[in-house]
Amino acid sequence: MTDYRFLRACHRQPADVTPIWLMRQAGRYMADYRAVRAKHSMLDVIRTPELACEITLQPIQAFDLDAAIIFADILPILIGMGLDLDFVKGTGPVIDNPITTPADVDALRTPPTEQNLPYTLEAIRLVRRELDGKVPLIGFSGAPFTLASYALEGGGSKNHVKVKSFMLAEPDAWHRLMEKLTRVVGDYLVAQAQAGAQALQVFDSWAGILSPMDYQHNVLPYARRVIERAQSSGVPVIYFGTNMNGMLGMLGEIGTDVIGVDWRIAIDDAWDQIGEHVAVQGNLDPVTLFAPWEQVQRHVDDILARTAGRPGHIFNLGHGILPETPVDTVKRLADYVHERSVVIKEG
Ligand code: CP3
Repeated sequence: MTDYRFLRACHRQPADVTPIWLMRQAGRYMADYRAVRAKHSMLDVIRTPELACEITLQPIQAFDLDAAIIFADILPILIGMGLDLDFVKGTGPVIDNPITTPADVDALRTPPTEQNLPYTLEAIRLVRRELDGKVPLIGFSGAPFTLASYALEGGGSKNHVKVKSFMLAEPDAWHRLMEKLTRVVGDYLVAQAQAGAQALQVFDSWAGILSPMDYQHNVLPYARRVIERAQSSGVPVIYFGTNMNGMLGMLGEIGTDVIGVDWRIAIDDAWDQIGEHVAVQGNLDPVTLFAPWEQVQRHVDDILARTAGRPGHIFNLGHGILPETPVDTVKRLADYVHERSVVIKEG
């Protein structure tokens, strides 16, 4: 079913208006979300399909967005592999037993998705039923590198010393780790498509902390395999990273249908480097949404002018929406992208 404007853009087909969705569109900036989270922990919400479904639908009911993204997180996949993950208020994700040695890599389990993340598959089925064709549903996973970063650092990190050191000091164990992650991530993405996800996004949020050489040799081959595996399910795949603007030529050859671009580069410049054979998603700076509305309009106009005339642009932020974002601006943004994309296209 390619007749949704979001899916049309993924396939670089012309759409009536530019489609828009927002990374982290279900989240703390919405009062409805905070109300659910006041009663349930993050992991409880993710593990309860009815709650995950309810939260997935909140932004779709509130704004004119062109895709839903299943409410989950990139990190729970690590729990079934043997890592003790928790989301700690004020700190973010924490892993109490991070990987420190090659033996830790070999001890990691690779359970099938039906065993590891059955609740997310069930949530996808529920959401598809509730959406009833209104907009398509996106499934997602972390990419092997970004998951490895959390598994080795034990949480967020500024300089990523542990993950980079392990990658360079223990090349054999590094590749065994990436092999395991590639397998479980690939399984997870295919299972999500089988459960009803109509597109899949692979988040490699931290890959841009690497030099192009380290990315090319130690990370890209695994990202490529995950993308290929996900595509085997028949749905389009979006590959997203930040701080990767020095590697866009390489990303253009990674085999994905869509590349997500951050705001640190003009989107037409990024697209020229990626190549016309790939669709692009992005790239409004999420902080722009805190500015006066006229400023938001200026920035949206600029992005739409730079992408007008090329089918295959999906409007999004350059990274996830921030917790304090004004809800009214989000509502106006979705409407404005739709209205203005027609005006700008028709000159
Ligand atoms: O886009 C969506 O609405 C779908 C849900 C989604 C979440 N996390 C929910 C979430 C998605 C796609 C993610 C991806 C994710 N999670 C990434 C990749 C994207 C990115 O932002 O780079 C990463 C790195 C994570 C890991 C993670 N999860 C962190 C670092 C944190 C804490 C910091 C933060 O941003 O809040 C989380 C928690 C998390 N995941 C929240 C949400 C809504 C906040 C939970 C809460 O406090 O209520």
